Amino acid sequence: MKKTRLADSAHLFAGSGVTTRLRDGRSVIIRTALPQDAGDVSAMHVRCSTETVRHRYHSVPSMTGRFLSCLLGTDIALVAEAPNHTIVAMANLGRDAGNDGELAVLVEDDWQRRGLGTIMLDHLVSMARLVGYGEVYTVCLTGDDWFRRALARIGAVQVEQAGGYDATRLPLRPTLARLPAELGTTAA
Ligand SMILES: CC(C)(COP(=O)(O)OP(=O)(O)OC[C@H]1O[C@@H](n2cnc3c(N)ncnc32)[C@H](O)[C@@H]1OP(=O)(O)O)[C@@H](O)C(=O)NCCC(=O)NCCS
Repeated sequence: MKKTRLADSAHLFAGSGVTTRLRDGRSVIIRTALPQDAGDVSAMHVRCSTETVRHRYHSVPSMTGRFLSCLLGTDIALVAEAPNHTIVAMANLGRDAGNDGELAVLVEDDWQRRGLGTIMLDHLVSMARLVGYGEVYTVCLTGDDWFRRALARIGAVQVEQAGGYDATRLPLRPTLARLPAELGTTAA
């Protein structure tokens, strides 16, 4: 699968979208989420199967205003917008008290298995690196292997199992030394 470019991930901080072509030829715009996306994000959850929602939240939450504003207000929140302007995926990174952050991704059922989840995860991890996270992790229901496999393609992961959940951790190395080259700029 084509790798996301660090420069594109950095671009997302500026609020501009990155147009991304998926495996099936469809395109989406990946951009940071805005408070006014609440209605569209809620509608996406309504279109999703119960199974998809349960795997994301480990429950089926009500789309209350408070819930949606927490979702849209995580340290980094990305959405993927289809050509008809509906939101079809969301990715979140919530910062813990320390230097760690929890990753989560949800792709609407009709848009799954086209590479979109992987692309959004790659952007989140690159953005986490750029703003100095020391480690990112996910907590998934045991047997949900997607995150472990996707993160293991990025770096060396550690997996801990407890109480029906798997925590997958990915330590991040700072990118400063290789930033100019990867961002396509020259050192001053
Ligand atoms: C998991 C999820 C984000 C993947 O999104 P996606 O856009 O379908 O992912 P991609 O297309 O990039 O990758 C799909 C690949 O992962 C595999 N995959 C999908 N779900 C999987 C799972 N639960 N366990 C293991 N592999 C899985 C597919 O077989 C596919 O492999 P292929 O490319 O060889 O066909 C999406 O299925 C989803 O939103 N699920 C519900 C929420 C969830 O589980 N989130 C993760 C926990 S927060």
